[in-house]
Amino acid sequence: MAAHWCSFVLLLLLLLVQFPELQGQQSYVNKRQLNCQQNDTTTLGYVCNGAATSCRSYLTFRSTLPYNNAITIANLLAADASEIARINNITDVGVLPVDTLVVVPVNCSCSGADSRYQHNASYTIQTQGETYFMVANDTYQALTSCQAMEANNPYDFRGLVVNMRLNVPLWCACPTANQTAAGFRYLLTYLIRQGNSYSYIADAFSGAGADVPGILNANKLSENDLIFFFTPILVPLTEEPTKENINILPPPPPPPSPALPTIPSDQSGGSSRKWVFVGVGIGAAVLLLVLISVACFSQLTDMQSNCQAPGFGAGDRIIFRFQVKYI
Ligand SMILES: *[C@@H]1O[C@H](CO)[C@@H](O)[C@H](O)[C@H]1NC(C)=O
Ligand SMILES: *[C@@H]1O[C@H](CO)[C@@H](O)[C@H](O)[C@H]1NC(C)=O
Ligand SMILES: *[C@@H]1O[C@H](CO)[C@@H](O)[C@H](O)[C@H]1NC(C)=O
Ligand SMILES: *[C@@H]1O[C@H](CO)[C@@H](O)[C@H](O)[C@H]1NC(C)=O
Ligand SMILES: *[C@@H]1O[C@H](CO)[C@@H](O)[C@H](O)[C@H]1NC(C)=O
Ligand SMILES: *[C@@H]1O[C@H](CO)[C@@H](O)[C@H](O)[C@H]1NC(C)=O
Repeated sequence: MAAHWCSFVLLLLLLLVQFPELQGQQSYVNKRQLNCQQNDTTTLGYVCNGAATSCRSYLTFRSTLPYNNAITIANLLAADASEIARINNITDVGVLPVDTLVVVPVNCSCSGADSRYQHNASYTIQTQGETYFMVANDTYQALTSCQAMEANNPYDFRGLVVNMRLNVPLWCACPTANQTAAGFRYLLTYLIRQGNSYSYIADAFSGAGADVPGILNANKLSENDLIFFFTPILVPLTEEPTKENINILPPPPPPPSPALPTIPSDQSGGSSRKWVFVGVGIGAAVLLLVLISVACFSQLTDMQSNCQAPGFGAGDRIIFRFQVKYI
Protein backbone atom coordinates (compact mmCIF):
# COMPACT_ATOMS: atom_id res chain seq x y z
CA MET A 1 0.00 0.00 0.00
CA ALA A 2 2.69 2.46 1.04
CA ALA A 3 4.83 1.23 -1.84
CA HIS A 4 2.04 1.94 -4.31
CA TRP A 5 1.51 5.33 -2.83
CA CYS A 6 5.21 6.14 -3.05
CA SER A 7 5.48 5.05 -6.68
CA PHE A 8 2.41 7.07 -7.52
CA VAL A 9 3.94 10.19 -5.98
CA LEU A 10 7.24 9.58 -7.74
CA LEU A 11 5.55 9.01 -11.09
CA LEU A 12 3.53 12.16 -10.64
CA LEU A 13 6.62 14.18 -9.79
CA LEU A 14 8.50 12.74 -12.75
CA LEU A 15 5.65 13.73 -15.07
CA LEU A 16 5.55 17.21 -13.60
CA VAL A 17 9.25 17.73 -14.07
CA GLN A 18 8.98 16.61 -17.71
CA PHE A 19 5.80 18.51 -18.38
CA PRO A 20 7.36 21.57 -20.08
CA GLU A 21 9.11 19.21 -22.50
CA LEU A 22 5.94 17.25 -23.19
CA GLN A 23 4.24 20.44 -24.21
CA GLY A 24 6.71 20.62 -27.04
CA GLN A 25 6.91 24.30 -28.02
CA GLN A 26 9.61 26.86 -27.14
CA SER A 27 9.91 29.33 -24.28
CA TYR A 28 9.91 33.03 -25.10
CA VAL A 29 13.15 34.62 -23.84
CA ASN A 30 11.32 37.50 -22.13
CA LYS A 31 14.28 39.92 -21.71
CA ARG A 32 16.34 37.41 -19.80
CA GLN A 33 18.95 37.70 -22.57
CA LEU A 34 19.79 41.16 -21.17
CA ASN A 35 21.51 39.77 -18.09
CA CYS A 36 24.67 38.12 -19.38
CA GLN A 37 25.74 37.15 -15.86
CA GLN A 38 22.72 34.98 -15.33
CA ASN A 39 22.50 31.44 -16.65
CA ASP A 40 18.96 30.67 -17.61
CA THR A 41 18.29 27.80 -19.98
CA THR A 42 15.89 29.85 -22.09
CA THR A 43 18.71 32.25 -22.97
CA LEU A 44 20.75 29.49 -24.60
CA GLY A 45 18.46 29.03 -27.59
CA TYR A 46 15.52 26.89 -28.61
CA VAL A 47 15.55 23.26 -27.50
CA CYS A 48 15.59 20.44 -30.05
CA ASN A 49 12.03 19.19 -29.73
CA GLY A 50 10.99 18.89 -33.37
CA ALA A 51 10.50 15.79 -35.45
CA ALA A 52 13.62 16.73 -37.46
CA THR A 53 17.14 17.42 -36.21
CA SER A 54 17.71 19.86 -39.07
CA CYS A 55 15.47 21.89 -41.33
CA ARG A 56 15.16 25.01 -43.42
CA SER A 57 14.18 28.00 -41.34
CA TYR A 58 14.01 31.76 -41.67
CA LEU A 59 15.48 34.72 -39.79
CA THR A 60 14.59 38.38 -40.08
CA PHE A 61 17.24 41.05 -40.27
CA ARG A 62 16.91 44.80 -40.76
CA SER A 63 19.35 46.36 -43.18
CA THR A 64 21.87 48.62 -41.57
CA LEU A 65 25.33 49.88 -42.49
CA PRO A 66 27.46 48.05 -43.54
CA TYR A 67 25.00 45.14 -43.87
CA ASN A 68 22.72 46.63 -46.47
CA ASN A 69 22.73 44.27 -49.44
CA ALA A 70 22.20 40.54 -50.01
CA ILE A 71 25.92 39.72 -50.09
CA THR A 72 26.97 41.51 -46.90
CA ILE A 73 23.93 40.19 -45.02
CA ALA A 74 24.62 36.67 -46.29
CA ASN A 75 28.22 36.91 -45.10
CA LEU A 76 27.21 38.12 -41.67
CA LEU A 77 24.54 35.43 -41.21
CA ALA A 78 26.33 32.58 -43.06
CA ALA A 79 23.48 32.41 -45.55
CA ASP A 80 23.20 32.18 -49.32
CA ALA A 81 23.14 35.61 -51.02
CA SER A 82 21.26 34.42 -54.10
CA GLU A 83 18.55 32.88 -51.90
CA ILE A 84 18.24 36.14 -49.95
CA ALA A 85 18.00 38.03 -53.25
CA ARG A 86 15.34 35.67 -54.62
CA ILE A 87 13.14 35.73 -51.51
CA ASN A 88 13.34 39.49 -51.05
CA ASN A 89 13.05 40.33 -54.76
CA ILE A 90 16.34 42.21 -54.82
CA THR A 91 19.64 41.76 -56.65
CA ASP A 92 22.77 40.47 -54.92
CA VAL A 93 24.35 43.89 -54.72
CA GLY A 94 21.26 46.13 -54.77
CA VAL A 95 21.56 48.47 -51.81
CA LEU A 96 18.62 48.35 -49.41
CA PRO A 97 17.37 51.44 -47.63
CA VAL A 98 18.37 51.35 -43.95
CA ASP A 99 15.85 49.48 -41.79
CA THR A 100 14.36 47.34 -44.56
CA LEU A 101 13.16 44.00 -43.25
CA VAL A 102 15.05 41.19 -44.99
CA VAL A 103 14.02 37.53 -44.74
CA VAL A 104 17.03 35.22 -44.60
CA PRO A 105 16.68 31.48 -45.21
CA VAL A 106 19.12 29.33 -43.22
CA ASN A 107 19.79 25.70 -42.43
CA CYS A 108 18.90 25.10 -38.82
CA SER A 109 20.25 22.12 -36.92
CA CYS A 110 20.54 20.55 -33.50
CA SER A 111 23.87 20.76 -31.74
CA GLY A 112 25.63 21.13 -28.45
CA ALA A 113 25.67 19.06 -25.31
CA ASP A 114 22.21 20.26 -24.34
CA SER A 115 20.75 19.95 -27.85
CA ARG A 116 19.79 23.39 -29.07
CA TYR A 117 18.63 24.36 -32.52
CA GLN A 118 21.05 26.81 -34.04
CA HIS A 119 22.48 28.14 -37.26
CA ASN A 120 26.18 28.87 -36.89
CA ALA A 121 27.58 32.07 -38.29
CA SER A 122 31.01 33.44 -37.49
CA TYR A 123 32.10 36.91 -36.60
CA THR A 124 35.53 38.48 -36.28
CA ILE A 125 35.89 41.07 -33.55
CA GLN A 126 36.59 44.40 -35.18
CA THR A 127 37.11 46.91 -32.42
CA GLN A 128 38.66 46.68 -28.98
CA GLY A 129 36.03 46.59 -26.28
CA GLU A 130 33.40 44.62 -28.24
CA THR A 131 31.57 42.26 -25.92
CA TYR A 132 29.45 39.16 -26.43
CA PHE A 133 26.46 41.33 -25.63
CA MET A 134 27.33 43.92 -28.29
CA VAL A 135 27.88 41.24 -30.91
CA ALA A 136 24.61 39.48 -30.00
CA ASN A 137 22.39 42.53 -29.49
CA ASP A 138 23.83 45.18 -31.78
CA THR A 139 25.53 43.40 -34.67
CA TYR A 140 23.27 40.32 -34.82
CA GLN A 141 20.14 42.25 -33.79
CA ALA A 142 19.29 39.87 -30.93
CA LEU A 143 19.19 36.82 -33.20
CA THR A 144 21.43 35.26 -30.54
CA SER A 145 22.21 36.03 -26.91
CA CYS A 146 25.38 36.77 -24.95
CA GLN A 147 24.72 33.58 -22.93
CA ALA A 148 24.47 31.42 -26.06
CA MET A 149 27.63 33.02 -27.45
CA GLU A 150 29.53 32.32 -24.25
CA ALA A 151 28.35 28.73 -24.29
CA ASN A 152 29.52 28.32 -27.91
CA ASN A 153 32.95 29.91 -27.62
CA PRO A 154 35.97 28.91 -25.59
CA TYR A 155 36.85 32.50 -24.67
CA ASP A 156 36.05 34.14 -21.38
CA PHE A 157 34.03 37.34 -21.86
CA ARG A 158 36.96 39.34 -20.44
CA GLY A 159 39.38 37.88 -22.97
CA LEU A 160 37.90 39.11 -26.26
CA VAL A 161 40.37 40.91 -28.50
CA VAL A 162 40.41 42.32 -32.05
CA ASN A 163 40.57 39.70 -34.85
CA MET A 164 39.31 36.91 -32.63
CA ARG A 165 36.90 34.73 -34.56
CA LEU A 166 33.70 33.93 -32.70
CA ASN A 167 31.09 31.26 -33.36
CA VAL A 168 27.68 32.93 -33.45
CA PRO A 169 24.82 30.50 -32.74
CA LEU A 170 21.78 32.15 -34.35
CA TRP A 171 18.42 31.14 -32.94
CA CYS A 172 16.19 29.09 -35.16
CA ALA A 173 13.91 26.07 -34.71
CA CYS A 174 12.25 23.24 -36.57
CA PRO A 175 8.50 22.58 -36.29
CA THR A 176 7.30 20.20 -33.59
CA ALA A 177 5.06 17.27 -34.50
CA ASN A 178 2.16 19.33 -33.19
CA GLN A 179 3.00 22.25 -35.45
CA THR A 180 3.44 19.96 -38.44
CA ALA A 181 0.04 18.41 -37.70
CA ALA A 182 -1.40 21.93 -37.65
CA GLY A 183 -0.01 22.52 -41.17
CA PHE A 184 3.05 24.62 -40.25
CA ARG A 185 6.18 23.83 -42.24
CA TYR A 186 8.67 26.49 -41.16
CA LEU A 187 9.52 28.65 -38.18
CA LEU A 188 10.65 32.21 -38.69
CA THR A 189 12.69 33.96 -35.99
CA TYR A 190 11.22 37.45 -35.95
CA LEU A 191 12.78 40.35 -34.09
CA ILE A 192 10.10 42.25 -32.16
CA ARG A 193 10.03 45.99 -32.74
CA GLN A 194 8.71 48.71 -30.52
CA GLY A 195 4.95 48.87 -30.90
CA ASN A 196 4.53 45.34 -32.32
CA SER A 197 1.61 43.33 -31.01
CA TYR A 198 0.77 39.69 -31.64
CA SER A 199 -1.77 40.70 -34.26
CA TYR A 200 0.70 43.02 -35.98
CA ILE A 201 3.22 40.18 -36.29
CA ALA A 202 0.58 37.70 -37.44
CA ASP A 203 -0.74 40.17 -40.04
CA ALA A 204 2.73 40.86 -41.39
CA PHE A 205 3.21 37.15 -42.17
CA SER A 206 -0.39 36.06 -42.67
CA GLY A 207 0.26 35.66 -46.40
CA ALA A 208 2.72 32.89 -45.45
CA GLY A 209 0.23 31.29 -43.07
CA ALA A 210 0.98 32.99 -39.73
CA ASP A 211 -1.78 33.45 -37.18
CA VAL A 212 -2.00 34.65 -33.58
CA PRO A 213 -2.83 31.25 -31.98
CA GLY A 214 0.11 29.66 -33.81
CA ILE A 215 2.50 32.37 -32.56
CA LEU A 216 1.22 32.17 -28.98
CA ASN A 217 1.49 28.38 -28.94
CA ALA A 218 4.95 28.35 -30.53
CA ASN A 219 6.35 30.61 -27.80
CA LYS A 220 4.32 29.26 -24.85
CA LEU A 221 2.69 32.66 -24.49
CA SER A 222 -0.87 33.68 -23.80
CA GLU A 223 -2.63 36.71 -25.20
CA ASN A 224 -2.14 38.76 -22.03
CA ASP A 225 1.60 38.11 -21.77
CA LEU A 226 3.86 41.05 -22.52
CA ILE A 227 6.45 40.86 -25.28
CA PHE A 228 9.45 43.14 -25.46
CA PHE A 229 11.12 44.87 -28.35
CA PHE A 230 14.53 43.62 -29.34
CA THR A 231 13.70 40.05 -28.39
CA PRO A 232 13.18 37.20 -30.87
CA ILE A 233 9.84 35.41 -31.23
CA LEU A 234 9.01 32.35 -33.33
CA VAL A 235 6.41 32.68 -36.07
CA PRO A 236 5.11 29.36 -37.50
CA LEU A 237 4.46 29.53 -41.26
CA THR A 238 2.80 27.25 -43.77
CA GLU A 239 4.71 28.69 -46.73
CA GLU A 240 8.04 30.27 -47.49
CA PRO A 241 7.89 33.98 -46.56
CA THR A 242 8.67 36.09 -49.64
CA LYS A 243 8.34 39.67 -50.81
CA GLU A 244 5.08 38.62 -52.50
CA ASN A 245 3.33 37.32 -49.39
CA ILE A 246 4.68 39.35 -46.48
CA ASN A 247 3.26 42.71 -45.58
CA ILE A 248 5.40 44.82 -43.27
CA LEU A 249 3.48 47.93 -42.34
CA PRO A 250 4.93 50.70 -40.20
CA PRO A 251 4.03 49.80 -36.61
CA PRO A 252 1.04 51.79 -35.35
CA PRO A 253 1.92 54.59 -32.90
CA PRO A 254 1.72 53.31 -29.31
CA PRO A 255 -1.77 54.01 -27.95
CA PRO A 256 -2.16 55.78 -24.59
CA SER A 257 -3.89 52.72 -23.09
CA PRO A 258 -1.84 49.76 -21.78
CA ALA A 259 -3.58 47.53 -24.37
CA LEU A 260 -0.51 47.07 -26.56
CA PRO A 261 1.65 44.30 -25.12
CA THR A 262 5.02 45.82 -26.00
CA ILE A 263 6.84 47.98 -23.50
CA PRO A 264 10.38 49.36 -23.43
CA SER A 265 12.89 46.74 -22.43
CA ASP A 266 14.20 48.65 -19.44
CA GLN A 267 10.82 48.58 -17.68
CA SER A 268 9.94 45.63 -15.52
CA GLY A 269 6.64 44.05 -16.47
CA GLY A 270 4.11 41.70 -14.91
CA SER A 271 5.30 39.06 -17.30
CA SER A 272 8.71 38.95 -15.67
CA ARG A 273 7.12 38.67 -12.28
CA LYS A 274 5.08 35.72 -13.52
CA TRP A 275 8.31 34.04 -14.56
CA VAL A 276 9.85 34.66 -11.20
CA PHE A 277 6.92 32.82 -9.64
CA VAL A 278 7.24 29.98 -12.12
CA GLY A 279 10.97 29.81 -11.39
CA VAL A 280 10.31 29.62 -7.66
CA GLY A 281 7.70 26.94 -8.35
CA ILE A 282 10.15 24.86 -10.37
CA GLY A 283 12.82 25.24 -7.68
CA ALA A 284 10.36 24.15 -4.99
CA ALA A 285 9.19 21.21 -7.07
CA VAL A 286 12.72 20.01 -7.76
CA LEU A 287 13.65 20.32 -4.08
CA LEU A 288 10.52 18.40 -3.09
CA LEU A 289 11.20 15.74 -5.71
CA VAL A 290 14.63 15.19 -4.22
CA LEU A 291 13.35 15.18 -0.63
CA ILE A 292 10.45 12.88 -1.35
CA SER A 293 12.51 10.51 -3.49
CA VAL A 294 15.00 10.17 -0.65
CA ALA A 295 12.18 9.67 1.85
CA CYS A 296 10.33 7.16 -0.33
CA PHE A 297 13.36 5.15 -1.32
CA SER A 298 14.70 4.85 2.18
CA GLN A 299 11.23 3.78 3.33
CA LEU A 300 10.79 1.33 0.47
CA THR A 301 14.11 -0.38 0.97
CA ASP A 302 13.34 -0.71 4.67
CA MET A 303 9.92 -2.14 3.77
CA GLN A 304 8.37 0.20 6.26
CA SER A 305 4.71 1.04 6.09
CA ASN A 306 4.67 4.77 5.56
CA CYS A 307 6.57 7.25 3.42
CA GLN A 308 4.88 10.38 4.70
CA ALA A 309 7.52 13.06 4.73
CA PRO A 310 7.10 15.82 7.32
CA GLY A 311 5.10 18.69 5.87
CA PHE A 312 4.24 16.77 2.75
CA GLY A 313 0.64 17.94 2.66
CA ALA A 314 1.64 21.55 2.11
CA GLY A 315 4.27 20.58 -0.46
CA ASP A 316 1.67 18.65 -2.42
CA ARG A 317 -0.32 21.79 -2.98
CA ILE A 318 2.77 23.71 -4.09
CA ILE A 319 3.46 21.11 -6.74
CA PHE A 320 -0.09 21.23 -7.98
CA ARG A 321 0.08 25.00 -8.29
CA PHE A 322 3.27 24.58 -10.27
CA GLN A 323 1.51 22.23 -12.68
CA VAL A 324 -1.42 24.58 -13.14
CA LYS A 325 0.97 27.32 -14.38
CA TYR A 326 1.91 25.20 -17.34
CA ILE A 327 -1.55 24.09 -18.41
C1 LIG B 1 -0.93 21.95 -30.66
O1 LIG B 1 -1.24 22.93 -31.64
C2 LIG B 1 -2.54 23.50 -31.54
C3 LIG B 1 -2.71 24.44 -32.71
O2 LIG B 1 -1.60 25.29 -32.89
C4 LIG B 1 -2.70 24.17 -30.19
O3 LIG B 1 -3.99 24.70 -30.06
C5 LIG B 1 -2.43 23.18 -29.09
O4 LIG B 1 -2.48 23.81 -27.83
C6 LIG B 1 -1.07 22.56 -29.27
N1 LIG B 1 -0.81 21.57 -28.25
C7 LIG B 1 0.29 21.62 -27.49
C8 LIG B 1 0.42 20.53 -26.49
O5 LIG B 1 1.15 22.48 -27.61
C1 LIG C 1 27.09 29.84 -16.93
O1 LIG C 1 27.32 28.56 -17.50
C2 LIG C 1 28.59 28.43 -18.12
C3 LIG C 1 28.67 27.09 -18.81
O2 LIG C 1 27.84 26.15 -18.22
C4 LIG C 1 29.68 28.61 -17.07
O3 LIG C 1 30.95 28.52 -17.68
C5 LIG C 1 29.53 29.99 -16.44
O4 LIG C 1 30.48 30.15 -15.41
C6 LIG C 1 28.12 30.15 -15.86
N1 LIG C 1 27.96 31.53 -15.39
C7 LIG C 1 27.37 31.84 -14.23
C8 LIG C 1 27.29 33.28 -13.90
O5 LIG C 1 26.92 30.98 -13.48
C1 LIG D 1 21.36 24.22 -46.66
O1 LIG D 1 21.20 22.85 -46.91
C2 LIG D 1 20.90 22.54 -48.25
C3 LIG D 1 20.61 21.05 -48.34
O2 LIG D 1 21.37 20.33 -47.45
C4 LIG D 1 22.08 22.96 -49.13
O3 LIG D 1 21.81 22.67 -50.48
C5 LIG D 1 22.30 24.44 -48.97
O4 LIG D 1 23.45 24.85 -49.69
C6 LIG D 1 22.51 24.80 -47.51
N1 LIG D 1 22.55 26.24 -47.41
C7 LIG D 1 23.52 26.89 -46.79
C8 LIG D 1 23.42 28.37 -46.75
O5 LIG D 1 24.45 26.30 -46.26
C1 LIG E 1 20.11 46.43 -28.20
O1 LIG E 1 20.22 46.99 -29.49
C2 LIG E 1 19.20 47.92 -29.85
C3 LIG E 1 19.41 48.35 -31.27
O2 LIG E 1 20.72 48.70 -31.52
C4 LIG E 1 19.22 49.09 -28.91
O3 LIG E 1 18.16 49.97 -29.21
C5 LIG E 1 19.09 48.59 -27.48
O4 LIG E 1 19.23 49.67 -26.61
C6 LIG E 1 20.15 47.56 -27.19
N1 LIG E 1 19.92 47.04 -25.85
C7 LIG E 1 20.77 47.30 -24.87
C8 LIG E 1 20.36 46.78 -23.55
O5 LIG E 1 21.82 47.88 -25.07
C1 LIG F 1 27.71 24.78 -34.59
O1 LIG F 1 28.67 25.08 -33.61
C2 LIG F 1 28.74 24.16 -32.54
C3 LIG F 1 29.83 24.65 -31.61
O2 LIG F 1 29.41 25.72 -30.86
C4 LIG F 1 29.06 22.78 -33.05
O3 LIG F 1 29.03 21.87 -31.97
C5 LIG F 1 28.03 22.38 -34.07
O4 LIG F 1 28.37 21.13 -34.64
C6 LIG F 1 27.94 23.41 -35.18
N1 LIG F 1 26.84 23.05 -36.07
C7 LIG F 1 27.00 22.90 -37.37
C8 LIG F 1 25.79 22.51 -38.16
O5 LIG F 1 28.07 23.08 -37.92
C1 LIG G 1 10.01 42.41 -57.80
O1 LIG G 1 10.91 43.21 -58.52
C2 LIG G 1 10.49 43.51 -59.84
C3 LIG G 1 11.61 44.26 -60.56
O2 LIG G 1 12.25 45.16 -59.71
C4 LIG G 1 9.20 44.36 -59.77
O3 LIG G 1 8.74 44.64 -61.08
C5 LIG G 1 8.16 43.57 -59.00
O4 LIG G 1 7.00 44.36 -58.83
C6 LIG G 1 8.69 43.17 -57.64
N1 LIG G 1 7.72 42.31 -56.97
C7 LIG G 1 7.28 42.61 -55.76
C8 LIG G 1 6.27 41.68 -55.17
O5 LIG G 1 7.67 43.57 -55.11
